[in-house]
Amino acid sequence: MSLTTNCLVTGGAGFIGSNLADELIRRGARVRIIDNFSTGFRENLEEISGDFDFVEGDLNDDRALEDAVSGIDIVFHQAALPSVPRSVENPIETHEACASATLKLLVKAKDRGVRRFVYAASSSAYGDQETLPKVETMKVDPLSPYAAAKLMGEQYCSVFHRIYGLETFSLRYFNVFGPRQNPSSMYSGVISRFIDALMKEESPLIYGDGEQSRDFTYVANVVDANIKAAEAADGAGETFNAANGERISLNELLSVLKKITGRESVEAVYKESRKGDVKHSQADNQKAVAMLGYQNLVGLEEGLRKTIDWWKHSRFAS
Ligand SMILES: NC(=O)c1ccc[n+]([C@@H]2O[C@H](COP(=O)([O-])OP(=O)(O)OC[C@H]3O[C@@H](n4cnc5c(N)ncnc54)[C@H](O)[C@@H]3O)[C@@H](O)[C@H]2O)c1
Repeated sequence: MSLTTNCLVTGGAGFIGSNLADELIRRGARVRIIDNFSTGFRENLEEISGDFDFVEGDLNDDRALEDAVSGIDIVFHQAALPSVPRSVENPIETHEACASATLKLLVKAKDRGVRRFVYAASSSAYGDQETLPKVETMKVDPLSPYAAAKLMGEQYCSVFHRIYGLETFSLRYFNVFGPRQNPSSMYSGVISRFIDALMKEESPLIYGDGEQSRDFTYVANVVDANIKAAEAADGAGETFNAANGERISLNELLSVLKKITGRESVEAVYKESRKGDVKHSQADNQKAVAMLGYQNLVGLEEGLRKTIDWWKHSRFAS
């Protein structure tokens, strides 16, 4: 990323967005962030090292959007309400934050001459497939309002490339984890909740029998995938899986975490499975490897250790 590149990170007060902003600044880009703090935190912005511009506002507000997009070369669109259960409770709120906001941002990006638009898409687009791993050529089958809204954003990205020539890249993240993921909400990602519970010697909560599996990806890997998509020579208008390409059940994951944290005696509590959750998830990442140069920079266990180290020094530890 060159010193002259002006980047916008939407959702930069959130988990993935703040990690991405950090890395862009480290590589010399000029960074602007827009966030409305719906699920993001000022503390995440404070942890970003280096200077950036900040627009506090909602992507659905045209004035804020104008301030955010003017003069920008590359948009990294991370903002969303990223929760299946929250979308089941309030589908309209999720539609506005995930689908409407993405459409308005795409229109503004096209009108203001943005060159490239990298979109945080979601593996939830696949739903439950008969075969694993999940590959980009499979028919989509969203199982929740969240999955439908994120997929709509992805389809708008593809259409904006076809119709207006905007260089869109959609990265279907699988389950991302790492520093700055908020563990304290009922909608939080499972690794952050497990670590938080184990460190406090409380019982982690598992929805279902724990045999559901996920392809967990450390945040640095998807951050790198975003930057590679921003620099790629080919692939505009397309969708790529961004994940490790391995899967582990929640029960197995918990055993690994218990070993690392030394909390071997803490037992999980099992509750009824949640509506809209998929059973198994595993990516075929060959397209991203071949076309973007995607790499698993950090494996699962190393990523878990880094996340636990971060947690120990975070505000959640006190
Ligand atoms: N974390 C994962 O495992 C995962 C998996 C697949 C896809 N994704 C996608 O990655 C992106 C980032 O997810 P995350 O885990 O960092 O979530 P996050 O909740 O930590 O970050 C989302 C950020 O977007 C902001 N935001 C939401 N609506 C907004 C709006 N209308 N205007 C301005 N800001 C708004 C929030 O305040 C928050 O800071 C999301 O688009 C999500 O759908 C995440």
